[in-house]
Amino acid sequence: MKAWIINDIGQSPVLQRVDLNEVKDSEVVLSVMASAINHRDIWITKGLYPDIKTGIVLGSDACGTYDGKTYIINPGLDWGSDQAVQSRDFNVLGMPINGTFAEQIVINKKYLYPKPLHLNAEEAAALPLAGVTAYRALMIKTKPQKGEKVLVSGIGGGVALFAMQFAIACGCEVFVTSSSDQKLEKALQLGAISGYNYSNPDWAKQLMADHGGVDIVIDGACGNGFNNLVKICNPGARIAFYGGSAGKIDGLNPQLIFWRQITISGTTMGSDQDFFDMLAFINKHKIVPVIDEVIDFENISKGFNKMASGSQFGKIVFKH
Ligand SMILES: NC(=O)c1ccc[n+]([C@@H]2O[C@H](COP(=O)([O-])OP(=O)(O)OC[C@H]3O[C@@H](n4cnc5c(N)ncnc54)[C@H](OP(=O)(O)O)[C@@H]3O)[C@@H](O)[C@H]2O)c1
Repeated sequence: MKAWIINDIGQSPVLQRVDLNEVKDSEVVLSVMASAINHRDIWITKGLYPDIKTGIVLGSDACGTYDGKTYIINPGLDWGSDQAVQSRDFNVLGMPINGTFAEQIVINKKYLYPKPLHLNAEEAAALPLAGVTAYRALMIKTKPQKGEKVLVSGIGGGVALFAMQFAIACGCEVFVTSSSDQKLEKALQLGAISGYNYSNPDWAKQLMADHGGVDIVIDGACGNGFNNLVKICNPGARIAFYGGSAGKIDGLNPQLIFWRQITISGTTMGSDQDFFDMLAFINKHKIVPVIDEVIDFENISKGFNKMASGSQFGKIVFKH
């Protein structure tokens, strides 16, 4: 079968013929109909991910068929039984184990979940990694209540958009930030109340003047911009961050955090239970992932370049 392989650390993946993994007990062969890229795939091709192995098929997300039925894959493998934190064996499909940018994939049946009926294969393929990350960050780590104010940063991102959609479905008032005014405009069309361009150094002051602060922050960037996220927090606010695209945080003000009793949580993907609950939530609220573009499997490099440039709004999906 054909698959996109990483042959060298720091190199783009190449399309080549590979053998399918041996099918062991409890495993099945899923024929992939669609897959989707995550920022993780970019970090791997840049050599900026721990324990990269060469000769591996990239890709964590997929929708495909097995035995006449259509499924999506939970890419978080071996989470373990502790809902609070993943086990030492936890790993993510698509490094170090062969992933979904392939015509077929061998996967343990327990990671297959029925495709939501209201989604087509491309929409369903956009869900798994970003969806479960956003679900755990928002629902488990910050426990939103109806009417609370939620700020989601970097709204062009795949995880960020799911967090926004989930928070709106919870009845929260959602505010967003982006480096792009066009992306802010799109987010308003999807139900955000206000958008702020984080390239403007005064955006946080403006949000405070407009809305007086937020109860929840969902962030995937950190960096020095994190200080503004703390400044806009109401007393008792919860911040969950799932990524560090902008690097380390300098100058964090401890007084602000302890005096306002702010909770800051790190979060990573989600447990099998979180994945199950995320799908139930998607089905209940008929949430449709925001897709930036569907690209042919043969042209995967176009998707990698687009995500690396940061120009996308939502998930980039590959049609196999
Ligand atoms: N811990 C986990 O389990 C987990 C899971 C998924 C992702 N992640 C990490 O989370 C990050 C985002 O992942 P993704 O797949 O959603 O990526 P993505 O779809 O490529 O989104 C990246 C977005 O980050 C935003 N961004 C970049 N710099 C920013 C800054 N300084 N301040 C605020 N926003 C900024 C941009 O938003 P605008 O274009 O709107 O400016 C960009 O669209 C990556 O670092 C990824 O590795 C971690």
